Amino acid sequence: VEHGSFVAFDAAHGYGSIRDDRKVGTLGDFEVFSFSGTKPVTSGEGGLVSTPHEWLADRVRYLRAYGFQQDYRSRFIGLNGKLSELHAALGVLELAQAETLMRHRQELVAHYRDRLGDSVTWQLVRPNDRSTYKDLAVELGASRSRVEHALTNTGVQTKRYFVPLHTMDVYARYSHTPQPVTDAVHNSTLCIPLFADLTISEIDMICDTILSALRD
Ligand SMILES: Cc1ncc(COP(=O)(O)O)c(C=O)c1O
Repeated sequence: VEHGSFVAFDAAHGYGSIRDDRKVGTLGDFEVFSFSGTKPVTSGEGGLVSTPHEWLADRVRYLRAYGFQQDYRSRFIGLNGKLSELHAALGVLELAQAETLMRHRQELVAHYRDRLGDSVTWQLVRPNDRSTYKDLAVELGASRSRVEHALTNTGVQTKRYFVPLHTMDVYARYSHTPQPVTDAVHNSTLCIPLFADLTISEIDMICDTILSALRD
């Protein structure tokens, strides 16, 4: 900041995550969390900005409401980016239980890891870090489609999720080099169910299905 530059983080689904024993939200000059409906901590829609700079926090407060300060005059050109009262109320309740939710997610993932072991490749989470596991993505190599179909046939929804930009018609023209690593990850990864109400016996059933599909 003293040199006029900022570190801004897209911390979208990182509320509750930890990097080197520090909570995400305390690392940059400006970090933006999303609380939209698919996030582990949600207010239904909207989000939260964290910053250690009081003047920057003020600026964001003004920016979200047309650049107004107290007198309904815009000091700069802002947005209509207010969080509705209802979403804010939901967010306050959710934030109060965020740590409990986060610990519960870690327990569910630990059970998955116990059951599946090295049969799948896991996201790397270092000892002093904590992932929110917004998506529980596992790499399955060439068995991805087999596992995906087996789970679908058992009534378990999975997601392949994000599509590499260079494979989309609208962005392909900006891609000038092959992306073999991205393609390989995209073709071998599957997100398996993880949500607060998921039970241990449901995880056991999902793991049995995955392990049996990997054996076939
Ligand atoms: C890394 C990242 N950035 C941004 C977003 C978008 O957040 P929002 O839906 O609140 O615009 C997401 C949503 O999943 C995300 O994962």
